[in-house]
Amino acid sequence: MKKYQVTISAPGKLMLFGEHAVVYGRPCIVTAVGQRMKATIELTKEPIFQLNAPDVQITNYQKPMTKLGLGDIPKGAKFVEMAVANFLIRHPERLAKDLSRMRGGIKITTKSQFNSQFGFGSSSASTVCVIKALSELTGKKLSNKRSFLSDKAIFDISYKTVLDIQGKGSGFDVASTIYGGTLYFVIGGKVIKPLKLKSLPLIVGYSGIKADTVTLINQVSQKAKKYPQIIDNLYSSIGQLIPLAQNALLRGDFENVGELMDFNQGYLSSLGVSSSKLEAMIHASREAGAYGAKLSGAGVGDCMIAFAPPSKVNAVKKAIEKAGGKAINIKSNVEGVRLES
Ligand code: MEV
Repeated sequence: MKKYQVTISAPGKLMLFGEHAVVYGRPCIVTAVGQRMKATIELTKEPIFQLNAPDVQITNYQKPMTKLGLGDIPKGAKFVEMAVANFLIRHPERLAKDLSRMRGGIKITTKSQFNSQFGFGSSSASTVCVIKALSELTGKKLSNKRSFLSDKAIFDISYKTVLDIQGKGSGFDVASTIYGGTLYFVIGGKVIKPLKLKSLPLIVGYSGIKADTVTLINQVSQKAKKYPQIIDNLYSSIGQLIPLAQNALLRGDFENVGELMDFNQGYLSSLGVSSSKLEAMIHASREAGAYGAKLSGAGVGDCMIAFAPPSKVNAVKKAIEKAGGKAINIKSNVEGVRLES
């Protein structure tokens, strides 16, 4: 029996090394985190696109399927709507088979276990959930529980969706939410290499400030216009950390990972994407016994991360809170996108 509804879940992500420099061709390392985005996608009879995404203030948003991706789209609906539109543009045969002949429309409900303010990548996680769901739902029987798109094909449509909306970005967040685990990644998915790690002694602190990735990428590129050589050298210095960090992670040498995080933070600070709040949390973590600490993501706000030995975890969390942040309990290196039901 063919099903017309699936629920998919996908993890959030945290950048461990290489943000910003990854946009300019250097590699990065990203880990998937255990709080997940869930999306239920149903093929419906009416040719209407419907979306409920209460986490981003979207309730009962509707439009005709023929208008998908067109006109003004509310901010909270953009990624999901464009994901559906891009899937259908790329795979019109699926539309023919399921959406127009057998069914007419699509109803989507998303629910996140994490706060969309954290910078864990809720937009890319919901995009990936939608593409994966459509791949599972359309054109073939679900009985073998295998989507017709490969992970790389899901990456390509999802990354296109992110670029259509944001114009910029490396796609590391999309890859992380699809493949899960911890990845060595190069822009556009040129390299997506899973690192076989058991667990990471990761502590996460939320700054309470929302970071806007595109604004920060633009800010750094303005700086690069004024100081092209200096900024390029910084990207290269960050890039040089990545193979070292990869080896230290694979060896389980977290003390070395911590040292490399501190270098990375220094370079990010030179790029101008740190902030007094993040610096306070980072320095407090180090003083409380972390191996090392840095901001994670676009910078200025969102989260910082620290690696710490088990005996120092509580002290580091307390120090983060004392510096005005919020310590978030989170698993890292978790499974990527999956079919829930
Ligand atoms: C943002 O989380 C990380 C950046 O490197 C952007 C990107 O890689 O897409 C600044």
